[in-house]
Amino acid sequence: MVVVAILAAGRGTRMKSNLPKVLHSLGGRSLIERVIETVQPLSPSRQLLIVGYQADEVKKATLCFPDLEFVEQKVQLGTGHAIQQLLPYLEGYTGDILVLNGDVPLLRTETLKQLLQIHQENRNAATILTAHLPEPQGYGRVFCNSDNIVQQIVEEKDCTFDQRQNHRINAGVYCFRWPDLAEVLPHLQANNAQKEYYLTDAVTQVAPVMAVDVEDYQEILGINDRLQLASAWEILQKRIKEKWMKAGVTFIDPASITIDDTVKLQPDVIIEPQTHLRGNTVIETGCRIGPGSLIENSHIGENVTVLYSVITDSIVQQGSQIGPYAHLRARAEVGVSCRIGNFVELKNSKLGAGTNAAHLSYLGDTTTGNQVNIGAGTITANYDGVKKHSTHIGARTKTGANSVLVAPITLGNDVCVAAGSTITEDVPDGCLVIARQRQVIKPNWQMKTHKAPG
Ligand code: UD1
Ligand code: CA
Repeated sequence: MVVVAILAAGRGTRMKSNLPKVLHSLGGRSLIERVIETVQPLSPSRQLLIVGYQADEVKKATLCFPDLEFVEQKVQLGTGHAIQQLLPYLEGYTGDILVLNGDVPLLRTETLKQLLQIHQENRNAATILTAHLPEPQGYGRVFCNSDNIVQQIVEEKDCTFDQRQNHRINAGVYCFRWPDLAEVLPHLQANNAQKEYYLTDAVTQVAPVMAVDVEDYQEILGINDRLQLASAWEILQKRIKEKWMKAGVTFIDPASITIDDTVKLQPDVIIEPQTHLRGNTVIETGCRIGPGSLIENSHIGENVTVLYSVITDSIVQQGSQIGPYAHLRARAEVGVSCRIGNFVELKNSKLGAGTNAAHLSYLGDTTTGNQVNIGAGTITANYDGVKKHSTHIGARTKTGANSVLVAPITLGNDVCVAAGSTITEDVPDGCLVIARQRQVIKPNWQMKTHKAPG
């Protein structure tokens, strides 16, 4: 049984942002969401989130985790002060507490499990995660004896020149026997360079404290500024792409591709250069996506191709071809084996199987039957300046080039709309509809010539 506490009260001054640091996004999810997710598989008996700077915003952003209890740290006087706020919440608790910094987003659950196990097996008062960093700037340095028993943790700002040469750093991930920690917490002093109450001081006031090195130091990268945010993002991208490559996905020029870790890909998907996959996107087997495409919160069925296109909040069913230069948005739903492309925009529209809209069209709030052909330049005029209206186009209907369909309107099945028509009234099944001026030809006509003056 373990209680988890996550520190998320700080402003994150070094980010130079109005947004609290822990709400900055890393590959589609905020730093704090990532940390909270990492602890879920441990099934903690309680999860305490320490909030302070813009507490309401942080609470709102974490509402999707119903088991969180919020602990307010009204003024931010340091990590030790933050943990002091837990005292009234954990009165009488005799178990262990896992403390995590809210700005360490790449940690793996496995690492936490190992830390807890070592802590419990050795009956330590505290066990802390450490790493040997090639560039340890900004981190607290950890000094141990030969048995990995921690002697001292010194924040970089308090380090002497010699102490700074130690590359073993404190990851900001701790396991404590709570009664031991609770006893020393009230006695922390703020006599250091930052005039803060350091949690790291509490660590060395209990005993024994063991340091455990993390295998892959990239996991414990703390995010204090935008440079570290970018480094973490690169590490995350590498992790995500490696995972999918091992699962049978081909990336052509992986460095030019970005993928959120919420995206799901099936084997034999090919992702071409300059393609970006975001949010809750699913891409089924046999698809070829890109080059130059952005897909967000969308489901792409089997064997679909997407070329130089943008698809958001939409569905494309199997065998369809999207692009070049298509824009699908706001619940567009493209049926099986459709062809959409060359400057076509679909918004909140559902196209039946085998439908083509291959050139220069806008279809908004539209449904079509199967095997409809949307001629080049067909536009649904769905907005009257106040309200949006819908269009229905029946099966096998063909709209001629440059048709305007003024919604609300229904075209029946097997209708043919003559090129250049502006359709304002419903058309029954099986009709040809022509709604344009008849062409006039005036024979033997010559341009009037003007005599030059003078
Ligand atoms: C801290 C550690 C340092 C370690 C590093 C690892 C201390 C004193 N130092 O330094 O040894 O190497 O993390 O990343 O703990 N926070 C609060 N309330 C506060 C202050 C901070 O909740 O009053 C939260 C922040 O929101 C953040 C976390 O605590 O999530 C860490 O704070 P930060 O200021 O980033 O500490 P570091 O200087 O990085
Ligand atoms: Ca930090």
